Amino acid sequence: MYDNNPTLTGKNKTVDESRQGEVFYDEALADGKKRFYIESYGCQMNFSDSEIVASILSDSGFAPTRNVEAADLILINTCSIREKAEETVRKRLREFDKVKQQKPETMVGVLGCMAERLKTRFLEEEKLVDMVVGPDAYRDLPKLLEVVGEGEKGVNVFLSKEETYADISPLRLDSNGVTAFISIMRGCDNMCSFCVVPFTRGRERSRDCFSIVAEATELFERGYREVTLLGQNVDSYKWENPETGQVVTFAQLLEMVAHVHPDLRVRFSTSHPKDITDEVLYTMARYDNICNYIHLPVQSGNSRVLKLMNRTYDREWYMDRVKAIYRILPDCAISSDIIAGFCTETEEEHRDTLSMIEWANYSMSYMFFYSERPGTLAARKLKDDVPEEVKKRRLQEIVRLQNQVSFKHNQADIGKTFKVLIEGNSKRSDQDFKGRNSQNKMIVFPKKHGLKPGDYVLVKVESATSATLRGHIVEN
Ligand code: 5AD
Ligand code: SF4
Repeated sequence: MYDNNPTLTGKNKTVDESRQGEVFYDEALADGKKRFYIESYGCQMNFSDSEIVASILSDSGFAPTRNVEAADLILINTCSIREKAEETVRKRLREFDKVKQQKPETMVGVLGCMAERLKTRFLEEEKLVDMVVGPDAYRDLPKLLEVVGEGEKGVNVFLSKEETYADISPLRLDSNGVTAFISIMRGCDNMCSFCVVPFTRGRERSRDCFSIVAEATELFERGYREVTLLGQNVDSYKWENPETGQVVTFAQLLEMVAHVHPDLRVRFSTSHPKDITDEVLYTMARYDNICNYIHLPVQSGNSRVLKLMNRTYDREWYMDRVKAIYRILPDCAISSDIIAGFCTETEEEHRDTLSMIEWANYSMSYMFFYSERPGTLAARKLKDDVPEEVKKRRLQEIVRLQNQVSFKHNQADIGKTFKVLIEGNSKRSDQDFKGRNSQNKMIVFPKKHGLKPGDYVLVKVESATSATLRGHIVEN
């Protein structure tokens, strides 16, 4: 990963900043309580962390609100992955300051990766902030709020080697009641040279597998029908039972979660090409409820660039993994993350990325141009020497090609029938439902009496764009 969340949208995206979201809650809960407002940016892990924060705050007597003006506490869960993400946060903080000017007792806190990266510097740079809390310090929030209440600034940016928030039951915000994310690990031990995540989220650690299964079971009992297991690099999930010494791998964890119930779909993200094993693929093949979809970021299609990126695989290795996926899981869809214009990338090397998009036949990709991040290996050792216009032009070529490949990928589904999990009304019309197939493609279809979100239906695809499929129910 750092993962961004490929499951949020079926569209090819160039920036994940657009995934910002206002949370959505039950105002009635707020009766007489102090209220917090939380806004999340960046990857799905951040959205998931916000649900842990919400749970901690609700245990301390706070209730959520989606009205920023009504909030006693405004929190912004931030992303540092690209410069643009940080600019967006700074802009938002200036807007929050206007609210604070109307109501000076409002507290404003910065959470997540940007808090971790800038630490106390944040308080100096952005005088508008009362609290800076890193991703491993959320348990400390109630104490920090007291400190702020006494007129001091609250800061905790300690990174932990153990914290997994395993015992905290996330308060599901902005939920459709059907699909949910479960964080299975934190941090990252890979040192991809472009990536700030190992610095902002610390060392990799895996969460107790039994707490993961318990969370999935509870979700299923509450009516949820799909869980996505989240981690920066899920294939290196490894939990050692302190009592028995037994080690649980990702393939074993997948199997345990698949056993929760055949009607509970299981997805996961993100897979690292260097670590994804055939055992994981065979486990996927054995269970109908493990979805046939793998987010397998290539980053670049050229071996020299991959080496500079410190991805620890080359083009051939990546192609071998893709071949293994299509051999073991012929119906599997693969998506990717791609960076255009990394340090010293030539035109020819860029064309290797383009050819990979076609060869791997990605159903969709998240595409970015390279943005140097302070403190990373690339910032220290490599020259960010591809001119901005060239980066942008290459990105455009990548986006254009991916859109064509996605279009063909989707057109190939016309006439096929898929099992679809209904997630809710389609964006355009309340006469239509939307839901995903196993391959993570969004399908829109006319409603039929008696069906509701959380139900499975068989849908036959009749048309497709590069982003969505359209169809009709053939059976329920
Ligand atoms: N510049 C551009 N894109 C980046 N990503 C990570 N770091 C950078 C960076 N410095 C992309 C990678 C990663 C995704 C989440 O964000 O493609 O997989
Ligand atoms: Fe993903 Fe690499 Fe960043 Fe880890 S260092 S979060 S694997 S891009």
